[in-house]
Amino acid sequence: MDYMEHKKQDTASALKDIISHAKEYGFVFPSSEIYDGLQAVYDYGQNGVELKNNLKNVWYKAMTMLNDNVVGLDAAIFMHPLTWKASGHVDSFNDPMIDNKDSKKRYRADTLLEERAAALEDEGKAAEAKALMQAMAKGLDAGDLEAVRQLIIDQNIKCPVSGTANWTEVRQFNLMFSTQVGAVSEDASLIYLRPETAQGIFVNFLNVQKTGRMKVPFGIAQIGKAFRNEIVARNFIFRMREFEQMEMQFFVRPGTEMEWYNKWKETRMKFHQAIGLPADSLKFHDHDKLAHYANAAVDIEYKFPFGFKEMEGIHSRTDFDLKAHQELSKKKQQYFDPEINQNYIPYVVETSVGADRLFLAILCNAYTEETTGEGETLKQRVYLNIHPALAPTKVAVLPLVKKDGLAEKAQEITNQLKFAFNTTYDDGGAIGKRYTRQDLIGTPYCVVVDYQTMEDQTVTVRDRNTMTQERISIADLKEKLGYAVSMERIFEKLV
Ligand code: GAP
Repeated sequence: MDYMEHKKQDTASALKDIISHAKEYGFVFPSSEIYDGLQAVYDYGQNGVELKNNLKNVWYKAMTMLNDNVVGLDAAIFMHPLTWKASGHVDSFNDPMIDNKDSKKRYRADTLLEERAAALEDEGKAAEAKALMQAMAKGLDAGDLEAVRQLIIDQNIKCPVSGTANWTEVRQFNLMFSTQVGAVSEDASLIYLRPETAQGIFVNFLNVQKTGRMKVPFGIAQIGKAFRNEIVARNFIFRMREFEQMEMQFFVRPGTEMEWYNKWKETRMKFHQAIGLPADSLKFHDHDKLAHYANAAVDIEYKFPFGFKEMEGIHSRTDFDLKAHQELSKKKQQYFDPEINQNYIPYVVETSVGADRLFLAILCNAYTEETTGEGETLKQRVYLNIHPALAPTKVAVLPLVKKDGLAEKAQEITNQLKFAFNTTYDDGGAIGKRYTRQDLIGTPYCVVVDYQTMEDQTVTVRDRNTMTQERISIADLKEKLGYAVSMERIFEKLV
């Protein structure tokens, strides 16, 4: 049964179930929870960190191992502050904010208007909703924040906390976090926590190109933390203040960018399907309005419980960033293309996916409530249908009972398998309970040691999704399960 279908009428409770499952089974905890948490910041628990690392690994390998012309990088979070001047983040990485004077609550002005437009749509007033969105875009484009405020007043939008429409003016609020670097406070200078990982790639373009003797077209892939002072932080790990990005900048000859843009669009969509997200839960969404640096941009959206929302962005960024860095640093960012005997600043096609959003998509897709049997044997079970290569634990080895040497045999098998993949041993409680524990964290296979094992050196292997059992020889376990839980299975779908 498709959980999302099941809960279609009740999206809030679908997300709530996933959030509580994530907490209860060690995937995601609120940050510093003993102090009541920190808004929009989360910690990954013992199972979450495994799943997230697997996701990062599969992305990184799919980028670098499967593409001869893509290499990795791990740039620092702190960068020279001029980086952010050149990239445009100091001057224009802003959200328009408005405060309610009675509740003292701060809101994104554009979000208030978007929510109003959505409500108008629901009331069947589509034309009015469209006009409102157009008026908002016009005001924001022109930097006319008073006009944006006036729309909020005209629409009689009220603060959900105070219930009043007593609004301040609209102000631009920069999303970058800043801190001071330097030991002595007078000499300390302001630096930023990077709001995207991409700039670490741009400033290293020539370092990598020259030392790696890279020929355009080539790409640089990087995974790392990014920070944004998001005001409207909601939907669990969908929008966080500290998050992780997996970005790849692909440097191409000017004029060929659309060809590469289309290629990466398809490649990235294929990736999401290969890691187990269903095709009908994914879609492209072309940007209606392009950022000043882009000549094409599309999002890959996933059908979260709160609707289709951006998971990954693919942007054709022209030569905007390298050119801006060349101008401000006074260091040439050119490449000599021997094929056409010309110097040029390469154009860039970027793929940028949030590790946390991908994690959330995988979790939402995996969460399955299932009813089996009938009458007296009717049972409800919950399991996480995570691709075996991504699952936190690959195999659980369970002795049917602890006595008669079964536990020792199960330990022995665990010790054999644990060098190859994440294997756990569990002898606590009834066998059914132990299966359930593994189902709840998405372990794809349970190996059971029973009395027959002691006679013929075979075990049963239970499949998480189908609950069917197959008897196989201990000698074949490593090879059979090894392939079943390997990332190779994902990579095979990508070439
Ligand atoms: N370098 C381009 C860039 O940063 P973006 O659309 O702002 O583009 C790319 O971000 C991806 O990063 C998004 O598609 C999303 O997956 C993730 N992301 C952005 N802001 C986020 C946040 N506050 N919390 C979690 N993930 C976020």
